[in-house]
Amino acid sequence: MTSKQRILTGDRPTGKLHLGHYVGSLANRVKLQHEYESFILIADVQALTTNFDNPENLSRDTFQIAEDYLAAGLDPDTATICIQSMIPEIHELAAYFGMFTSVNVLRHNPTVKSEAQQHGFSDMTYGFLGYPVSQAADITIFKAHLVPVGEDQIPHLELARKIVRRFNDLYQPVLVEPDILIGEVPRLVGLDGKTKMSKSLNNAIYLSDSSEEIRKKVMGAVTDPARIHKSDPGHPEICTVFEYHKIFNPGEVSQIESDCRQGRIGCVDCKKRLAACLDTLVEPMRERRRQYTENPDRVREILIAGTERAHEVARQTMGEVREAMGIDYFK
Ligand code: TRP
Repeated sequence: MTSKQRILTGDRPTGKLHLGHYVGSLANRVKLQHEYESFILIADVQALTTNFDNPENLSRDTFQIAEDYLAAGLDPDTATICIQSMIPEIHELAAYFGMFTSVNVLRHNPTVKSEAQQHGFSDMTYGFLGYPVSQAADITIFKAHLVPVGEDQIPHLELARKIVRRFNDLYQPVLVEPDILIGEVPRLVGLDGKTKMSKSLNNAIYLSDSSEEIRKKVMGAVTDPARIHKSDPGHPEICTVFEYHKIFNPGEVSQIESDCRQGRIGCVDCKKRLAACLDTLVEPMRERRRQYTENPDRVREILIAGTERAHEVARQTMGEVREAMGIDYFK
């Protein structure tokens, strides 16, 4: 038995991970994986909330996200990467949580509301409306103390905490109330100046992008529109590229700021420096990724072993839950 506290976090496998995921929560997971006992859940059932009509992509996307995790530096000997649908106890616990969770509370969840709008749902399915309940089960079945996620997940974490308090109060105090840890950059702006980097907005730089792809995307970024000639004084405070320098290039950012304001560095040079810097961040990921793409059985083995390890923890918690609720009839 380890005495370390636990982390649980996860993502829906709906495509490649991008820099927004990285600075929003993945970097935290990588950083904390040795301090905490870490479980990383590939939430394929939750992905079905919006992708129920194309489940054929789930298998590909599950392997893709696992590869992204490993490339980003999650160490499979330390962190447990597991698949949600293969741990049925999660769905069982969600059913019990559903008994005392109010539909109105779910309907008012701001993240659920904005996602429903984004997907154009006029009516919500039962599974979609209820996914935050299932997410509370994801977290609590592992008795996680800490959940590193992006800021859009705050309402779900608040619900999970409430559910734990209610459960512990109704039955017996067997569940752990999780804390939330938001990344240093809770929401990365898109290089096109849109509020968020996202696959659906088509403005993402992926962790799996080549140097050339990164360079092209950065060169197409929006900058200070008032600046036409290199010698025009720039306004970094309204420039998206400068926003990125602040996040990804702390060593050069103050120099770039003064050079820009005084018209000593042009936007093209400034973008080239950013592209180089992003490339330096992603390069070690490419190196690690190569080891896995050259050996795809390895990813499969990691997922099988991780899911089995996680399943064992989930079985244990469900035993305690049944006992707390008095529904372990034949004991
Ligand atoms: N809802 C999260 C997202 O969209 C994914 C997720 C599923 C998750 N289960 C989780 C995050 C448990 C943290 C903990 O990104």
